Amino acid sequence: MQSNLWDDLWINCQLFTMEHDLSFIKNAAIAVKEGKIAWLGAVSDLPGSPESLAAIIHDVKEKCITPGLIDCHTHLVYAGNRYHEFALRLQGASYETIAQAGGGIQFTVAKTRAASDEELFFQSIKRAEALVKEGVTTLEIKSGYGLDLASELKMLRVAKRIGEVLPVDVTLTFLGAHALPPEYKNKPDEYIELVCHEILPVLAAENLVDAVDIFCERIAFDLAQAERVFKTAKEFNLKIKCHAEQLSDSGAAQLAAQYGAVSVDHLEFLSEDGVMALAKANTVAVLLPGAFYFLREEKLPPIDLLRQYKVPMAIATDCNPGTSPVTSLLLMLNMACTLFKLTPEEALLGVTKHAAQALGLEKTCGTLAVGKVADFVVWDVEHPMELVYNIGLNPMISVIKNGKQS
Ligand code: NIG
Ligand code: FE
Repeated sequence: MQSNLWDDLWINCQLFTMEHDLSFIKNAAIAVKEGKIAWLGAVSDLPGSPESLAAIIHDVKEKCITPGLIDCHTHLVYAGNRYHEFALRLQGASYETIAQAGGGIQFTVAKTRAASDEELFFQSIKRAEALVKEGVTTLEIKSGYGLDLASELKMLRVAKRIGEVLPVDVTLTFLGAHALPPEYKNKPDEYIELVCHEILPVLAAENLVDAVDIFCERIAFDLAQAERVFKTAKEFNLKIKCHAEQLSDSGAAQLAAQYGAVSVDHLEFLSEDGVMALAKANTVAVLLPGAFYFLREEKLPPIDLLRQYKVPMAIATDCNPGTSPVTSLLLMLNMACTLFKLTPEEALLGVTKHAAQALGLEKTCGTLAVGKVADFVVWDVEHPMELVYNIGLNPMISVIKNGKQS
């Protein structure tokens, strides 16, 4: 019997696999078996009539299909918000001044520590839902507003639970080295010791961490402290990420690349040496136009150099209460082009293929290919460039997660 060859088959699609640039297949079909992509190609090349091949046929009537979108950098689990700081910044206060005066990340740490598991979950899941509604099927969530063992555990458990209740894969990044908690004031090395030898081992034992990140900046941690965090991450066989060169050029991107980081993120102040180090290590440059916009930054990341050295570029929301209260990855596509001058193709690769690479997941998701997870989105657009061009319109028709339409 051939009727059960595949579980589901989508036909009459304009398929953009993103394997090599957009990789367009006209009048295409895509088949799913047990949550994986089992076949894709032109409808005319199907090895039989659709009805003879799959139990369920979905005729998408020439609509576009892309891989599920990937938001590879978020801090979306947090309590409270920071609208009061936004008002202060509009009056001229800088992000750094607010942080140095004890506001900024510290404000959100206090709120997040005080929130119950349930409060934190219900405040945070709304943000994840907004992303899922726009076709996000893989989402990275960082800790870093707890800064002690109990609160970091609470954040990561909430992040994991979000992935259990929504049709989205959540990857967990431990950002214990986000800011110095008040109880470690003037004792950054002791705090890094706690992060590496008290908190991380517990999180790893509880399977609550896929990657380790650090905010390397003059208002956060220095290169020597970053190196200790990277070494420990390696001992635990965890992926490395780094908030680097956001407000100044510290050389953190280069250091992270030397430790084999999957990504370095922000990068407005990245130097040419830094770019070369990323190219050599095949580290992804994650660009965050929401933070650039919201902080009204003026220095652009070195896009031409990243292109010249063929560094893969990803785009993410950086969803967080201080620098990027953004829950729209589609909007980031537009901003990556208008603010950073990416091409629409580069932006689209930045939320699919290159975003997967920024999470070390390029073998399983980010593009459409046989054997990969069947995560894809049907869009009511003529061409995926419309996703980049429109502002505020959500043309998603349906999202398929692990082969299941929701
Ligand atoms: O990615 N730069 C450090 N961390 C966040 C901001 C965190 C906050 O202000 O709450 C970022 O921009
Ligand atoms: Fe961030």
